[in-house]
Amino acid sequence: MEYLGRVIGRSVRHLRFRAFYGMEFQLGEILVIEDEERGRRLLARVIDIEYGADAPGDDWWERTAGNMMQGDGKGGFEMRERERRLFEVGACTPLGFVDGGTFRKPKVLVPHFSKVRRAEEADFAFLTEKMGDIEAGLLRSGDRKVPIRVGISGEAFPHHIGVFATTGMGKSNLMKTLAASAMRCGRYGMLVLDPHGEYFAGAPGCKGLSHVPEAAERMVVFSSRSLPGAHNTIKISAHEIKVEDLLNLQEYSDAQREALHALSAAFGNEWMIQAHTHESEELVEMLHKSFFLESINVIKRRIKRIMDSGKVTRDREVSMTRTVIDALKSAKVVLVDTGSMPEHEELLVSTVLARAVLENYQRVYERPEDFKFLPPALITMEEAQRVLGTSKGTIFSRIAREGRKFKVGLCAISQQPKLIDNQVISQFNTLFILGLADKRDRDILRDASKQDISDLENEIQTLMVGEALVTSPFVPFALPLAVYKFEDYLDEMSASQKGKKQKAGPDKGFY
Ligand SMILES: Nc1ncnc2c1ncn2[C@@H]1O[C@H](COP(=O)(O)OP(=O)(O)OP(=O)(O)O)[C@@H](O)[C@H]1O
Ligand SMILES: [Mg+2]
Repeated sequence: MEYLGRVIGRSVRHLRFRAFYGMEFQLGEILVIEDEERGRRLLARVIDIEYGADAPGDDWWERTAGNMMQGDGKGGFEMRERERRLFEVGACTPLGFVDGGTFRKPKVLVPHFSKVRRAEEADFAFLTEKMGDIEAGLLRSGDRKVPIRVGISGEAFPHHIGVFATTGMGKSNLMKTLAASAMRCGRYGMLVLDPHGEYFAGAPGCKGLSHVPEAAERMVVFSSRSLPGAHNTIKISAHEIKVEDLLNLQEYSDAQREALHALSAAFGNEWMIQAHTHESEELVEMLHKSFFLESINVIKRRIKRIMDSGKVTRDREVSMTRTVIDALKSAKVVLVDTGSMPEHEELLVSTVLARAVLENYQRVYERPEDFKFLPPALITMEEAQRVLGTSKGTIFSRIAREGRKFKVGLCAISQQPKLIDNQVISQFNTLFILGLADKRDRDILRDASKQDISDLENEIQTLMVGEALVTSPFVPFALPLAVYKFEDYLDEMSASQKGKKQKAGPDKGFY
């Protein structure tokens, strides 16, 4: 048990302790303060570290530094009793009391001069039962890893997730880890939209979801390009595209909007095919001359662009949405690799799929007996600020607002949370906050977080690649997390799978 120092003040929300000379502790480290009078422990997080000295007079620091500088090059200056007089002061936020197996919010003071020590694995045992079945990494104390697994419950998927970090801090690595864990767990659906085309095989030097041992059984892949492994081709039937999908993606004037609705009313799910097939003049006739030729021309031009993309077919038998929904309902991971597609096509495919999933789950909701057994689904979107700039408008912001009731969650991944609408961001119950350089981004997350992280500004600023804080109403405090490196997590999965297989066979030497 590493004894660090003793409490010297200051209030119930803000503790300070004096540490022994030379005793190193870090920003973000979780320490234990022993309440010996009541036989319980207080966990506290270091939020700042200051210099301290038993010094006579206010100008002692300046005088001593001056003496040292005078002595430099002349044999030095020997400070007397350095180890007794110099120390560090840790400023801490109390997290809560651990009393037996229970954890309580810190509402009372610990006794004066209580002992402070470094936390050990056993101090965090109470957290184990609160960790969900979707693993993300290990508990972190400063930059030290504590062998306690940190994860979230898949049941929390419909409460929406935000993953935020500056570029290169480990968002995609975290997403691959969560997806691999979902495959291993096999209880939840996950639709992974991958506009960078980096998840299947992994970026050069990295591994991808195709390397997950369970991928063959638990992952369905769609792509518009050739991938090094089994996959389906992205192909949406024109019958699966609704007017609202186009309205979600492009600006239309009121007149064009009305014309679109009129086409949908006249032709049902054939509306796009009919609009593509007929000349503008014919369509005006078919819609009883209620619309100007110019409006119809604009609509036709846009539809032609979609039909010419090669991603949309006139064949009504082709149904990518059906396959995706079936896989999600069987608790599989569906990877849609749109890496080679221009943004307008990528967003069309993503929008149609997300809308189809939400609508389908809404229909199941009407049948409570079936709904009970429907696995929650999480739709993950990279560069989510593109589609979440306003609370109204896209299917993704609609899912953030309405998905919870129907077991459909959104996982928004972004480098710039400040570009996401405030109301949308407040819907994310779980936040994974990785290193974020921009203060405005951090401020937004501080306000949106379900736990008070206002004291953690210093820690968030010093997060290294793969280090994160997880906030959610399901954990007792903002949890410091060291996300698994995906490749290491895979190795561990393979090892534990081998272990399982060996165990499953008859015990050698048993007979
Ligand atoms: N938890 C981790 N442990 C070790 N290395 C990591 C971890 N997370 C990420 N890395 C490494 O850091 C690099 C960048 O990670 P990643 O691609 O996940 O970042 P990103 O936030 O998605 O970046 P971008 O914004 O460019 O998409 C990768 O080489 C990855 O292997
Ligand atoms: Mg990335």
